[in-house]
Amino acid sequence: MKIGIDKIGFYAPHLYVDMNKLAVARNVEPEKFTIGIGQEKMAIAPITQDPVTLAANAALNILNDEDRAKIDFVIFGTESGIDNSKSGAVYVHHLLDLNPNARSIEVKQACYGATAGIQMAKGHIALNPESRVLVLGSDIARYGLNTSGESTQGAGAVAMVISANPKILALEDKSAYLTVDIMDFWRPVYSDKAFVDGKFSNEQYIHFFNTVWEQYKAKSDLALNDFEAICFHLPYTKMGLKALRTVLEEANEVDQERLLANYKSSTLYNRNVGNIYTGSLYLSLVSLLEQGDQLKDGSRIGLYSYGSGAVGEFFTGILQPNYREYLQVEKHANLFAARTEISIEEYEAVFQETVPVDGSTAEFDATKDTAAIYLAGIKDNMRQYVTKKN
Ligand code: COA
Repeated sequence: MKIGIDKIGFYAPHLYVDMNKLAVARNVEPEKFTIGIGQEKMAIAPITQDPVTLAANAALNILNDEDRAKIDFVIFGTESGIDNSKSGAVYVHHLLDLNPNARSIEVKQACYGATAGIQMAKGHIALNPESRVLVLGSDIARYGLNTSGESTQGAGAVAMVISANPKILALEDKSAYLTVDIMDFWRPVYSDKAFVDGKFSNEQYIHFFNTVWEQYKAKSDLALNDFEAICFHLPYTKMGLKALRTVLEEANEVDQERLLANYKSSTLYNRNVGNIYTGSLYLSLVSLLEQGDQLKDGSRIGLYSYGSGAVGEFFTGILQPNYREYLQVEKHANLFAARTEISIEEYEAVFQETVPVDGSTAEFDATKDTAAIYLAGIKDNMRQYVTKKN
């Protein structure tokens, strides 16, 4: 039985900053951000968007009534969750009006959470072929104003329906994975900003990629030329390119050109959204599928997932017949076109506006937020979520 991605969509908040302008404000050359880091625009979450609303908005765009009835497992990958006890999945389950006979959980392992969700979903579908699983990867990446990680922030979510006989990508069985206890990036429960050893995390990202890639080849008997494209977890778009370059010489010139061209297609959306942690690899997949016009049905796509701390995994999927018909190209183009640029001063003000943590009541103004689902405030330590009426 084939199991894989039946539907996939993403959501990013309606505000962004231009990286050229951020560079000028931070007194660095714009090319450092646009070429050295490889980012053009960075999505900014207003106070009315949090990881729950971002995930719910992403899923809202792909689900129909049949999905709502058949989804019996919601898996929410995040590393910027809003509660240390209750899962974001339960809120999303309610906001989307899903079948009550469902399991709903949150998964945490830095940017790897949604991949763990997909692997769990595969097992669930293997045992329950009629079911569907909603896998979410949703985060707001925050390093702080004027920090070296600032240019690698972002906000957004990816939603996927995993099912039997998927219409987009059938996941193959072989997979290679690795866990090593390292401190390259972490966020203690008392901090709303991550701690990061940036250079070490870059090194480890590549080291994990090389390790799982070697392991995958040994397990599968496949080689680089068997892949039409490889999608990477993208904390910033230059990161995946650095990893790809370490193995590129394993392929001939024609294959190298194809892999590099497809890599470019797989980074277009991320370049304009920024880092969305758990969703980044899957945003890259959406970008490749929607913008890679050379891809053919039956092609093999590699996926490299990395979550600091650290867990890495390399796994693969095969594009299904007529997969293009099931993508959300127009919705995503409209989402990008409808965004509003804000100045660096406005971004700094938005960044510093945070949900109260002292039990006080707050009401947020959502008149400018274009999202269908938003955070209206907080009362008695409970977040108040609202779905706009059409
Ligand atoms: N034109 C073109 N490129 C330029 C440039 C210019 N004017 N100025 C600098 N660059 C290049 C650098 O050469 C470097 O490229 P390289 O890595 O290929 O050598 C790149 O821009 C970044 O410069 P660097 O000095 O290394 O940046 P930084 O020390 O300010 O921080 C990160 C970069 C990624 C380490 C930092 O943003 C970070 O910690 N991010 C969060 C952690 C993260 O994303 N980790 C990834 C793995 S999960």
